[in-house]
Amino acid sequence: MIYSRILGTGSYLPERILTNAELEARVQTTDEWIRERTGIRQRHIAAEGETTCDISFHAAQRALEAAGVQGNEIDLVILGTTSPDIVFPSTACLLQHRIGANGCPAFDVNAACSGFMYALGIADKFIRSGSAKKALVVGAETISRVVDWNDRTTCVLFGDGAGAVVLGASEEAGILGTHMHADGGHRELLYTPVGISAGFTDGPNHGLAIHMSGNEVFKVAVKTLDAVVEETLTTHGIDKSQIDWLIPHQANLRIITATAKRLDMPMDRVIVTVDRHGNTSAASVPLALDEAVRSGRVKRGDMVLMEAFGGGFTWASALMRY
Ligand code: COA
Repeated sequence: MIYSRILGTGSYLPERILTNAELEARVQTTDEWIRERTGIRQRHIAAEGETTCDISFHAAQRALEAAGVQGNEIDLVILGTTSPDIVFPSTACLLQHRIGANGCPAFDVNAACSGFMYALGIADKFIRSGSAKKALVVGAETISRVVDWNDRTTCVLFGDGAGAVVLGASEEAGILGTHMHADGGHRELLYTPVGISAGFTDGPNHGLAIHMSGNEVFKVAVKTLDAVVEETLTTHGIDKSQIDWLIPHQANLRIITATAKRLDMPMDRVIVTVDRHGNTSAASVPLALDEAVRSGRVKRGDMVLMEAFGGGFTWASALMRY
């Protein structure tokens, strides 16, 4: 049996840090409100001209170095993002050329905040089927470009960043399983009104902005994440007490705490970055994973549960022995 296994992780955060205090000066909000309702203290914002491919490249280089793999050994590149550099070529193609993996399949996955989890699930299936041996899987966003900085209900939430893993074929697990879901029936709760074939306006930023009914999304997110965690444990016959680490999507500390409670996990077994990164959408899980690995918390052999929820709605999980 072939499994896929994470050989190395990497991540990158843009230099510029935007604090809650700066947002107080911009919209009617307070540091206290943001911290109490979301757990966020600060977020990173890409520099002018710094693109999703640029930040992905830094994260990818670090993951390749950690894995001891050269760019030209990679035979699959999948990149989860909702903020690609340009419409086409895909950001995965741009990144593939930068790391020197030309020739292998490379494509983007748009599953909003679940983008990395979807990309990981797809790459795992490529490797299990023998179609790839070494995959670069990235979650990266310059989501700040899609934020309406005058809308206090959304601008306090998001941040930019990139995370990457190198997956390799292995006889030893590895990723035990991934679960991916979507329900396109709730578009009006979380969406951007502008795309390529719909919605351009003459207004600022061509009308491009995240629209979110935060409170309703919150309730669906908690319920849905409960369900996918349950599905994952049941499918793999794992008791919640066997999970060493929860690496959740970093949208809101209250959502993270609710999932941890459901798993009876103390918060010191939960990787939390939302306080410093905000919601980096598709980048949030691989950023948190890289931080957990590099800080020595997640170690080889640990049982790790990762999950994400986002626009679509989409939601997904992965269970692995790191
Ligand atoms: N500063 C101060 N007040 C704010 C505010 C801000 N930045 N944003 C909203 N408010 C106000 C609202 O206008 C509302 O005022 P009202 O009671 O006078 O109408 C009040 O705060 C409560 O708003 P509500 O939306 O009910 O707050 P909440 O507790 O649900 O928290 C979110 C808002 C967005 C933090 C929370 O709903 C959330 O995290 N949602 C899910 C996000 C998510 O997971 N996204 C999906 C994955 S990407």
